[in-house]
Amino acid sequence: PVEHTLAVIKPDASQEHREGIISRIESAGFSISQVKETQLTREMAENFYKHHRDKAFFNSLVDYMTQGPSVMMILSKENAIAEWREMIGPVDPEKAKEVSPNSLRACFAKSILENTVHGSSDAKHAMDNIQFLFGDVCL
Ligand code: CMP
Repeated sequence: PVEHTLAVIKPDASQEHREGIISRIESAGFSISQVKETQLTREMAENFYKHHRDKAFFNSLVDYMTQGPSVMMILSKENAIAEWREMIGPVDPEKAKEVSPNSLRACFAKSILENTVHGSSDAKHAMDNIQFLFGDVCL
């Protein structure tokens, strides 16, 4: 069955990096079912990352995610959720370079905070993330 997941290209990505990431998404066989550029407000970023509210990095995360526009995409494919997580690699680019050197974070991320891409972790988060950013969509 086809799955849907939310992919975000975060505000640190240059135009060149955005294009590189999108071309890798297409080469991997994902359909980009919806795409839009959005600059998150602080309220939206706090809500999007509410499960990280108690972390020491929460305020830096909200600063980072609101500093410029992000590219929001719904990616669709069989096994899309796990495959997109695999493609982005571990949260920390230093670790990504060791365990998954071709992953997007190994190639493009600057730091564990400014790690360039996001992917929903499971089916529940995918549904919540898609609803939050795109509202009711027919997929
Ligand atoms: P993401 O996968 O979008 O989900 C939570 C985000 O918080 C993560 O990517 C990073 O941008 C950030 N993050 C996670 N862990 C840390 C950390 N230890 N220090 C700073 N930022 C982090």
